[in-house]
Amino acid sequence: MKDVAGKVAFITGGAAGLGLAMAQSFTAAGMKVAIADIEDSALDAAASMFSESNAEVITMKTDVTDRDSMAEARAKTLEAFGKVHVLCNNAGVAINGNIADMSYKDWDWVMKVNLDGVINGIVTFINDIRSHGEGGHVVNTASIAGQHGMAHLGIYCASKFAVVGISETMRLDLAADNIGVSVLCPGVVETGIGNSERNRPDEYGGANDPAMANSGGSDVEMEVMQPSAIGDIVLHAIQNDQFYLLTHREFEPAVQKRSDEIRSAFEYWADYRAEHNV
Ligand SMILES: NC(=O)c1ccc[n+]([C@@H]2O[C@H](COP(=O)([O-])OP(=O)(O)OC[C@H]3O[C@@H](n4cnc5c(N)ncnc54)[C@H](O)[C@@H]3O)[C@@H](O)[C@H]2O)c1
Repeated sequence: MKDVAGKVAFITGGAAGLGLAMAQSFTAAGMKVAIADIEDSALDAAASMFSESNAEVITMKTDVTDRDSMAEARAKTLEAFGKVHVLCNNAGVAINGNIADMSYKDWDWVMKVNLDGVINGIVTFINDIRSHGEGGHVVNTASIAGQHGMAHLGIYCASKFAVVGISETMRLDLAADNIGVSVLCPGVVETGIGNSERNRPDEYGGANDPAMANSGGSDVEMEVMQPSAIGDIVLHAIQNDQFYLLTHREFEPAVQKRSDEIRSAFEYWADYRAEHNV
């Protein structure tokens, strides 16, 4: 979508971190933005930040895991702006720890936000984007943890691999409707993700261990990027129809290792079948 000025974006988890950075890059390019987020204080801060500029931004309290809440957000966005062109399914949470120690509540919370949240965004908005015929773009925020398995990030990896798979299919299915797709797979960016438990509802265990999300992950020496750079990268990807947004090159060897292992597994089992005649 080369011409973004005047187009409307809906961003989940848009009041902080990467989502807020997307909102800043989009408004700087003349887009209108609807920010949906679960956190009141972040929504208030985002609203007051944008009220000091000429940007056309609305903010709304939304829980991506709740389909009624998403329907309400859709109604508010259409009422304010009439259309939606760009959907950023970005809200996400992380939890660290050995997969063997994860409880059902851990699984349910992370999968609800990171996977169901994306599904709910797609089902809520995709026909709005399709029907106006002006084209559009969907950005799904996954992670480098959606490109290779990482120690102590099992639930997070499960959710992000799913988001990558959904995105690869969306690219195939939506091309005919002139809707581009990008899947954002960053390494480390300086945001509040390490303190995700601040938004963990009581029914999923509550905000009881904010420090838990700060350990483990990868042995790779990691660059910590700033959110503003990611906001600009996402805008560029929308304008230039880029699919895989792989921003942290230090993870390339690990992803390559996975691809190499998959290729040799094809060879191994082809040899096995030939040898055993099965
Ligand atoms: N920061 C990183 O290093 C990094 C790396 C890879 C991927 N990501 C992904 O980027 C996305 C954004 O995370 P971030 O790093 O900006 O973290 P963040 O915590 O700064 O922002 C996440 C936002 O999502 C909101 N949110 C949480 N639960 C929600 C819900 N149920 N409904 C609506 N909003 C909800 C939070 O209030 C917050 O504003 C996530 O999907 C995350 O997994 C982040």
